Formats: sequence, structure tokens, C-alpha cells
Amino acid sequence: MNEDESCCGTKSSQSCYESDCCQPSSSTSIEDVVRESYGKRWASLKATKSAQAKSRASMKFPPHDALWKELMPREGMRVLDIGSGSGETVLAIAEKVGSTGKAVGIDFSPEGIKLAQENAKKRGLESIAEFRQAHALELPFPDNSFDAAISECVVCLIQDKQKALNEKVRVLKPGGRVIMHDVITWAPMPKAMREDKGLYCGCIGGAVSLDEYVEMMKKAGLTNIKTVDFTKNAKRMMNLEAVAQKFEQRKATSAQEVVDFVRKGGIGYALLIGTKKQA
Ligand SMILES: C[S@@+](CC[C@H](N)C(=O)[O-])C[C@H]1O[C@@H](n2cnc3c(N)ncnc32)[C@H](O)[C@@H]1O
Repeated sequence: MNEDESCCGTKSSQSCYESDCCQPSSSTSIEDVVRESYGKRWASLKATKSAQAKSRASMKFPPHDALWKELMPREGMRVLDIGSGSGETVLAIAEKVGSTGKAVGIDFSPEGIKLAQENAKKRGLESIAEFRQAHALELPFPDNSFDAAISECVVCLIQDKQKALNEKVRVLKPGGRVIMHDVITWAPMPKAMREDKGLYCGCIGGAVSLDEYVEMMKKAGLTNIKTVDFTKNAKRMMNLEAVAQKFEQRKATSAQEVVDFVRKGGIGYALLIGTKKQA
């Protein structure tokens, strides 16, 4: 994923909002819309053992690179990736943690899990990299199982963010770390934007502020909280100008509010890190 691509991997000419992966269907709940949309996206991709896919860790996506440096996956580590998608990050981690460690990905899209498992097989990593279909709010693991729980542009898609963070912390060993990057807001988001299913699914509509994230992380039992701001990259990563233009065409007062919010820097991106307290 390079910097011209958005968090959900669309082409540089498209925003998440415009891409096929984020078009709302007739599904009623927002969660169904998210599952279906990403399902379609993962089903359209083919498993690969190409060098490009294999070396995602060295690709130019600044928040991912920063997450990787924080994580420093090494021999014997147990790492969980929540919302693992096509599984590229989990596979890169599996190569580092080796046979004494474990890299586990969960995703609620069955198509994502199938693709990730095929990718693992093609690269001979099935014994280290495990993929399970599961919901981020009900992780199928006992307490204190992992050294790190990561997520990349996923918590913005989950409505009950506090519960998602509580679950991450529950499965971490004491001293283990949550490392995640996600879309954030720098001002209250206009209602028209919050209610747009396409924008929600495109990682934007469900975003909350950095302060709200930090507060939820503290409530979940994390300490040593650190944040790194990637807002300067957000405009290109998410093609925010395309989002603004789309609303501009609607010419309604509420649409203008959205355009102003987006153009004045209401949307940002950040890496967030926290450590589970020692017992
Ligand atoms: C924007 S994609 C990111 C995929 C991957 N982390 C990456 O960086 O390429 C979001 C992923 O999170 C998954 N997801 C969203 N909400 C979820 C939930 N509540 N439980 C499990 N997976 C979820 C989606 O199915 C999708 O695969």
C-alpha cells in the first residue's frame, strides 16, 4: 500500500467513498454494509506470493511503517491483528516471529479470511500465521494470550469502540501493547457526514477525535499512551478532495458544511499506542 492509496486500498484516483468496496447496498445495519463491502473487495483480489505483497512492511505507507517500528516483531512473539483483511501484515509478522511465535489475524469477512489463508499457504506460512473469522467485539481467545494487539484502519469501522478496545486489552498479556493506526477527527463531524453509509464504510464517517481515543484507551486499562499524528498524509491517503467534491455537487446547505469540514482539515490520521498494566 503506498501513500497514494487509501486505508482500504483503493486506486489513487478514487477515494474510499467512491470505490466499489465502499458502496452501500440494501443491507440495513451499518455493520452488515461494512462486512459486505469489504467481503466484495477481498473476493475480487487473488492470492499472491509476489515480492510486492510479501514485503508490505517495507512499503511506503507512513502509519504502517511507524506501527511496524513500534511493534518490532521478533522471534517467539505472539501478535494479533484485528481486521486483518487480506492478511499481508500478519504474514510479514509471521516471517519475523518464526516457529516459536504466532501471528494471528481475525476478520469478520469470510472472504477476507479465505484470501488471507490462501496467501499464507502460497507463502508456506500456514503453521505460523493463523486466520480466523471473528468479530472484533468477541475475540475467540483467552485472557492474556498476546504480546501485542494491532489494528490498521479498523476501529473507525466499529461502532462500539470502547468495547473493541476492552477486548484488545483483555487478550493482551500484562505489559503487552495495543498498537493501532486509524482515521481521526479534529472537529465535531457534521451530521450529514456521520449519517452517510458510504463514508462510514470508507473509514471516515465513524472516526472520532484523538482525545476520545486516548480517553477510551485509558478506560480500557492502558498506560504509557503515545500518539503520532499523520494528518499531513491523510489528504492523499484518503483522497479527501474527492469526498469534498462529491458533496459539493449536492449543493445543499448540509453538503456545504461537509465540504468546509473536509477542506478545513477536519479529518486526520494517527498512530496510537498503549501498554496493558502489569498485574
Ligand atoms: C479498511 S480494512 C483494513 C484491512 C487491513 N487491516 C489493512 O490494513 O489492509 C478494514 C477491515 O476490518 C474488517 N472489520 C471491520 N469491522 C470489523 C469487526 N467488527 N470485526 C472484525 N473485522 C472487522 C473488515 O472486514 C476489513 O477487512
